[in-house]
Amino acid sequence: MLIVDDLLIDAENQLLNAMRTMRHRDDQFTYNTIVVPTFEDAIIAVLINPNIQACILRPSFPMKSKRNSGLITHVVAAIDEKLRKYVYNSKNQGSELGRLINYLRPELDLYLISDMAMETGNQDDDDYFKRVFYSENSNLDMHHSLLGGVAERFDTPFFSALKKYSRKPTGIFHALPISRAKSIEKSNWIGDMLDFYGANIFLAETSTTSGGLDSLLQPKGPLKKAQEYASRAYGSRSSYFVTNGTSTANKIVVQALVQPGDIILVDRDCHKSHHYGMVLSGAHVKYLDSYPIHDLSIYGGVPLKEIKRNLLKYKEMGQLDRVKMLLLTNCTFDGVV
Ligand SMILES: Cc1ncc(COP(=O)(O)O)c(C=O)c1O
Repeated sequence: MLIVDDLLIDAENQLLNAMRTMRHRDDQFTYNTIVVPTFEDAIIAVLINPNIQACILRPSFPMKSKRNSGLITHVVAAIDEKLRKYVYNSKNQGSELGRLINYLRPELDLYLISDMAMETGNQDDDDYFKRVFYSENSNLDMHHSLLGGVAERFDTPFFSALKKYSRKPTGIFHALPISRAKSIEKSNWIGDMLDFYGANIFLAETSTTSGGLDSLLQPKGPLKKAQEYASRAYGSRSSYFVTNGTSTANKIVVQALVQPGDIILVDRDCHKSHHYGMVLSGAHVKYLDSYPIHDLSIYGGVPLKEIKRNLLKYKEMGQLDRVKMLLLTNCTFDGVV
């Protein structure tokens, strides 16, 4: 747990001790607490320390780190000057830092300690903070909120539903090819499959029509919940699960975003599934060339120059608005990022 608070050393030790004494043997998890005093230290901490899973922010704190390290200079230089000034000048520095951490590590649980009265709290805080603590909340409240937040992330809605489903005794009156292992367990010729894969993969066989689990086409239950969780973990607006591998996923993406006659810029070294997607969507395709690396007899990536050159050409022809997608493979098949 990361606390952003500019504390004197005695107060910091007191806080660390207080958090440690909250531990109870019935707790599902234990955690350690790190305290950093400034905005810059907080950003470095969330960027380089993957063990941080929750942050508690104070409403205000100093901006500049007192540490003098090349890493801090380097990372801070990469944070947009305007953004830093915005946080610096904000009346709600804690809220603004929360917004930034949410962008950098969307999966983290964020908490704010407010020095305002509950009624005057910042409305936007609800978007980024899991909970706002006011003076009347105790350390124990905080401790249980932290544990609850992490426990929630151990929730696996789809996998849990699948495990439950695969243990349910069911008669099959339906065209499932494996019949949840029944068709192979007594088979004289294919019984080896059961030994090789184990029973679970067959017991987990399901179909939307026979029910029991959710539907990919119209998710309403555990699948929908799992997609919402995935979306939060990846920081995307929404996530959709796809069976049939990456090839089908690529075809779905291209067909969902591109209309017949739209132009796609695509690297010449892309996977063949993109070509299928482009044929199915009726797109007009412009191939982009990668730069050669002669010493290694391989190609690199598509240079920015190549992308700009093509976009400028379409602009000249008055067709820039037809370009709807830039499709690049990163890393390349030769491993160049
Ligand atoms: C970049 C890339 N895209 C798509 C695919 C297709 O994946 P799948 O075999 O899961 O359809 C591959 C597979 O090698 C790939 O490397």
